[in-house]
Amino acid sequence: MGRLDGQVVIVTGSARGLGRDYARYFAQDGAHVVLADVKGTEAAADEASAAGPRCIGVETDVTSRASTHALVDRTIAEFGRLDVLVNNAGLWRGLAQAGLLDCPDEAWDAAWSVNVTGTLRAYQAAVPAMAKGGGGRIVNVSSVASRSGADAYGLTKNAVERMTAGMAHEVGRLGITVNCVAPGISAFEAAGSKLGNADDIVAGLAVPRVGTSRELYEAIVYFCGDAAGWVTGQTLRVDGGGGLR
Ligand SMILES: NC(=O)c1ccc[n+]([C@@H]2O[C@H](COP(=O)([O-])OP(=O)(O)OC[C@H]3O[C@@H](n4cnc5c(N)ncnc54)[C@H](O)[C@@H]3O)[C@@H](O)[C@H]2O)c1
Repeated sequence: MGRLDGQVVIVTGSARGLGRDYARYFAQDGAHVVLADVKGTEAAADEASAAGPRCIGVETDVTSRASTHALVDRTIAEFGRLDVLVNNAGLWRGLAQAGLLDCPDEAWDAAWSVNVTGTLRAYQAAVPAMAKGGGGRIVNVSSVASRSGADAYGLTKNAVERMTAGMAHEVGRLGITVNCVAPGISAFEAAGSKLGNADDIVAGLAVPRVGTSRELYEAIVYFCGDAAGWVTGQTLRVDGGGGLR
């Protein structure tokens, strides 16, 4: 028996990287997963379906109100309910390195649009459907950079954490909790990219290694379970103990 048998879960940004792994783990836990991404959702949905119950891919641009509402409508049409939303879609490549003074307009706008507006749009689309079903769980995704990075990436992730608290306050009475997981440097090979200073960052951690998608998922699934029914508005840092001194 899985921990989320029969539940219906949307994971945004799940065609690749960490989100793709989360979708597969949710399916292994017995959930129907709706994989939402700008493209490439079909192969990822097939992979998740092979690990558990039927999952589907829905091409979605989280920055768009119409697209996120269509995502939730399709979820309800296919599975009849929505229990969990994981706001994982995010842009990070190259954003920290861009700094502030010389940050290109497109990079700045894209970071706020996907990381912040995208999280908001998916929340706005999901809440009415969850409320109709009696409640739900929303997990936003921040980053270790929310504390350390005064750049486009870190600032948007800082906003995601503040937004998590605001959302939680807004929808608690609807039976919906909203929490946030802030990963450290994780699953780097799977994410298909390298940060120039990754080795230095890892060496400075209390637990000096890269994290795994499974370790991040275990934090996400905690927020989705009965044990966390009275936990809301929180950010859980899963980062090997970065920035402790
Ligand atoms: N990998 C890490 O070490 C790490 C560390 C801290 C935080 N994070 C956060 O975890 C999340 C996933 O990271 P990742 O490394 O797997 O990233 P990734 O770049 O591999 O995957 C992100 C996914 O989001 C999708 N996406 C981008 N814009 C979108 C949009 N407008 N609509 C829908 N989907 C969109 C992309 O297509 C991609 O599939 C991000 O929010 C990231 O900021 C990652």
